[in-house]
Amino acid sequence: MDQKIKALREQMEQRLNLVDSREKLSAFWQDFLGKKGSIAELMKGLGAVAKEERPAVGKLINEFKTFAEQRYQERSEKIDELELQERNRREQVDITLPSSRRQQGTMHPISIVRNEMINVFANMGFEVFEGPEIEDDDHNFTRLNVPKDHPARDMQDTFYISEDILLRTHTSPGQIRVMDHEKPPIKVLVPGRVFRSDSDATHSPMFHQMEGLVVDKGITLCDLQGMLDQFVRRMFDAEVRTRLRPSYFPFTEPSVEVDVSCFECGGKGCGLCKHTGWIEVLGGGVVHPNVLKNCGIDPDVYSGIAFGIGIERITMLKYGINNMGLLFENDLRFLKQFKD
Ligand code: PHE
Repeated sequence: MDQKIKALREQMEQRLNLVDSREKLSAFWQDFLGKKGSIAELMKGLGAVAKEERPAVGKLINEFKTFAEQRYQERSEKIDELELQERNRREQVDITLPSSRRQQGTMHPISIVRNEMINVFANMGFEVFEGPEIEDDDHNFTRLNVPKDHPARDMQDTFYISEDILLRTHTSPGQIRVMDHEKPPIKVLVPGRVFRSDSDATHSPMFHQMEGLVVDKGITLCDLQGMLDQFVRRMFDAEVRTRLRPSYFPFTEPSVEVDVSCFECGGKGCGLCKHTGWIEVLGGGVVHPNVLKNCGIDPDVYSGIAFGIGIERITMLKYGINNMGLLFENDLRFLKQFKD
């Protein structure tokens, strides 16, 4: 029996050395200390031992059992420790590692310029209003003094959704929407996307405009020129001058195109101004009495001025961008150059 215990003890130590997980530990328990384990076997064998030797052998087996339990306990604690180490290793955070940098976006140049334009006009007391991009014929044309058969409708190649519903071709329907809800004095800006079915180097089927509308007693074309003078000086250069040229829009009378003196050559003539010394930047005029009437405002008491500025055009002039496509391709190498 002595020999047997000795052999078992060696076997047990060998097994124990291989135990490195909870699963192996519980298999070890079953094989040695379990009900059907080797030590239980030893106990069973006690019956075959001579009666007088039994107490001594029984004691030996019990001692061995206590020893085995002790070794089991030690191993169990060791495994706890190993598991903790492993978990700590896995969950370790190296605070010296450089963090992955968050990509910071930049504002699109159109947005930068739109905001800047709003700022300039807000300083003159303008409020901002936004209208829908899907409009009806009434707001986009008819109530702006462009009746159904009016030839001026051909000036703007319209995307029709149905007979009466369309993508707004300009921000001018915003004038109607504002005047329907507010009474003079009115001083609003309507920035937004507009749509026309033409597309070439200088035209995109979607572009941005900023409408301006001022309605009050005694408003004249001089107010328009004064405000636009302010605007171009703040936007471009204090030396820049404006010039009004007669033009035609059904919703303004008189109507004007507004040029700015070329800030590249100071008016001497260069590539940017096509050697004219002037650059066209917007259309505007005195609000047609019919438009006021269509919105329930008495043209004998009130008058107004309106203008529509192409935001792409201002952006290109401001940053010296010669290809409008760049503004829509969204190439990050291009866009990253603009910081708010
Ligand atoms: N809506 C005109 C256009 O898109 C511009 C404009 C606005 C002209 C306001 C006069 C007054 O061409």
